[in-house]
Amino acid sequence: MILRLTFCLLAIAAATVCSKKVEQVHLSLSGRPDEMVVTWLTLDPLPNVTPYVAFGVTKNSLRLTAKGNTTGWADQGKKGKMRYTHRATMQNMVAGQLYYYQVGSSQEMSEIFHFRQPDQSQPLRAAIFGDLSIYKGQQSIDQLIAARKDNQFDLIIHIGDLAYDLHDQDGSTGDDYMNAIEPFAAYVPYMVFAGNHEVDSNFNHITNRFTMPRNGVYDNNLFWSFDYGFVHFIALNSEYYAEEMSKESQKQFKWLEQDLANNKKKWTIVMFHRPWYCSSKKKKGCHDDEDILSREGLTDKFPGLEELLNQHKVDLILYGHKHTYERMWPIFNKEPFKSSDPTHIKNAPAPVYILTGGAGCHSHEDPSDHIIQDFSVKALGEYGYTFLTVYNATHLSTDFVDTSETTGKFLDPFVLEKN
Ligand SMILES: *[C@@H]1O[C@H](CO)[C@@H](O)[C@H](O)[C@H]1NC(C)=O
Ligand SMILES: *[C@@H]1O[C@H](CO)[C@@H](O)[C@H](O)[C@H]1NC(C)=O
Repeated sequence: MILRLTFCLLAIAAATVCSKKVEQVHLSLSGRPDEMVVTWLTLDPLPNVTPYVAFGVTKNSLRLTAKGNTTGWADQGKKGKMRYTHRATMQNMVAGQLYYYQVGSSQEMSEIFHFRQPDQSQPLRAAIFGDLSIYKGQQSIDQLIAARKDNQFDLIIHIGDLAYDLHDQDGSTGDDYMNAIEPFAAYVPYMVFAGNHEVDSNFNHITNRFTMPRNGVYDNNLFWSFDYGFVHFIALNSEYYAEEMSKESQKQFKWLEQDLANNKKKWTIVMFHRPWYCSSKKKKGCHDDEDILSREGLTDKFPGLEELLNQHKVDLILYGHKHTYERMWPIFNKEPFKSSDPTHIKNAPAPVYILTGGAGCHSHEDPSDHIIQDFSVKALGEYGYTFLTVYNATHLSTDFVDTSETTGKFLDPFVLEKN
């Protein structure tokens, strides 16, 4: 990023050259195992040329190409700054194959990046976290970059609250964040959805900067699902409830009913931004009214989600919003189901919950002054992310990776097993 800035300063006389520069390159999954989506930005419109991705299995021969499309969109800040998002899908990819690629147009190409097309017959390794900025999150970003270089994961999922905030300073905070994470997001699919910090721009930035699986309702990145190996992943938008957007809450609920009914995977992992269960300074834990609304519901206007997720035997639920880490027992309707070993639960009768909002945001929390709830197993104040491994149809594991030291330490090994 520093190199790029230097280039831009040097090129100040030819500012348009600079701002046509390809930046913020990142990968995402479309939901089809033989595809990989790449998304990038330019700060100026392309002249009459087509954006594309060139890719191949050797670095010096990127013989395959896929045409992209462009969306120009205005930031809601005072300047109404325009940005240009380019998207392209690489198709007919071979599982497990290493690919090199670069994106751009006849005007300007990016550097060459690489990725391995997911081999879904192998165990899945994913980094999952919420609430990450480049300010207090730099350590986590550095460790995610190092772990990516070390080939530690296949997938990264950010469960809301990006950059603090993507739209700040007419969107340049978002540009800085997306450039800062390029060293991991251009190499491993980076999946995102909204938290409360994406609300102020009316979801404008999360919708326009990313390319999540198209769910056929709004196709706006806010709720989606995809299969990967043994897992069905679902991301939901808890902000529809917090913002009392009744129509959207209902549409999402209907979609979710259908999505869960069609789900054939052995494991189901659901993610949304706002927590239902965690410890806080309050006696009853983090039980904010707007979050009770999404959990319990209120008439037909705000259909409650907990019962539906429980009916469909969801295995694991992850959220952020509170800036710490906490793993809970399986819970339904505030009741924990405790068993003999909190580090290895077999055939859980309800979803296990993990709060993982401590990647590094503006205000970090420490659970040392929290009133630890009866349903809580482990609460940690270190910065870090959750590392998920899905081995097969019967075993998955999670752990907490501490990023507050220079090398990641694993602090909360946990195995979930089912017949
Ligand atoms: C633009 O490209 C993306 C990525 O290939 C694709 O998902 C999307 O449907 C395309 N949009 C249009 C309007 O063609
Ligand atoms: C599934 O993975 C677990 C953890 O690695 C392992 O102990 C178990 O034997 C595996 N089961 C099968 C059927 O491969």
